[in-house]
Amino acid sequence: MLSQIRSTGDQLRWAVDQPAPAIGTSSEILYVGMGGSGIAGDYVGAIAMPFGTRMVVHKGYGPLPLWATKARPLVIAASYSGNTEETLDFVESARDSGLRVATITTGGRLGELTVTHDWPSVSVPSGLQPRAAAGYMIGAALTVLRGAHAIDDQRLALDEAATMADEATAEGSDRWMEATRIAEKLDGRIPIIYAGGPVSTVVAQRWKTQINENAKVPAWWSLLPELDHNEITGWETMPEKTREHLGIVTLRDRSDNDRIETRLAHTRTLTQDAVPWVAEVNSTGVSRLARLVSLTAVGDLVSWMMADSAGVDPVPVATIEKLKKLLAEED
Ligand code: PA5
Repeated sequence: MLSQIRSTGDQLRWAVDQPAPAIGTSSEILYVGMGGSGIAGDYVGAIAMPFGTRMVVHKGYGPLPLWATKARPLVIAASYSGNTEETLDFVESARDSGLRVATITTGGRLGELTVTHDWPSVSVPSGLQPRAAAGYMIGAALTVLRGAHAIDDQRLALDEAATMADEATAEGSDRWMEATRIAEKLDGRIPIIYAGGPVSTVVAQRWKTQINENAKVPAWWSLLPELDHNEITGWETMPEKTREHLGIVTLRDRSDNDRIETRLAHTRTLTQDAVPWVAEVNSTGVSRLARLVSLTAVGDLVSWMMADSAGVDPVPVATIEKLKKLLAEED
């Protein structure tokens, strides 16, 4: 898993050379994908936002939402394996409604549908765990969006992000040491990731799922300012338990509203007796993509380090496989 995490830089660099499929202009995108493939849509949605592109990320089955039958967005179906049932179900619903479809996959059933319907597609190299192929999936989604004239050329950003990923994941780097400290503090605790801006929010979700799948530990994410209207009161009555078993990590980026900083400070003051605030991680870099990747690299490393120190193999996801088998038996 560490070598897969370390391949993120090369994955992003791969995208620099991908030709953009000819799709026709679209400023309204409906991206469908689950898990590691779905989150690539969240990342690219955060990048597309400043270009006035509306990108809705759908994580689930069809049918097509009613707004989409009216607005007729470009549907991007992303599945690393090409065999994820929710994504296949949804894309068939999009096809039946006559929407334009583009795909991102290594093959599988989605690959077959792509060939049958002659859908524009970016084909991604296979051989990784889907969650470790985030660099490919993000790079491919940026390539599709470039083909749809929905964003500008992101190739400089891809280069910047690739360099950042390489530097961060090198053993002994500043980011490596930061991850080491955070993993140590989270040892034996359930991590809760707090964030409150367009960049940090997306990565909070990635930290949670990486910790779930790599370290096999429960984790949650919550967002400011919303959590100040509900979750903040949840720390009131069980401080002896929450103090011992939970830990908060905050993610920050310069796109956070100034009030988020103020809110974080007060939220911490009001809750730190009930839960340790373990660390604040700040993004670095110029482009949105690089800033997303800078926060992601620390989370990916933390998830791997938590697995490593607990003697857990980060690669297999046995419970997901068991669930898929149970669901297949119901067919
Ligand atoms: O990380 C994982 O393995 C999962 O979250 C998968 O990404 C998820 O099950 C969807 O699979 P795929 O990305 O192949 O569509």
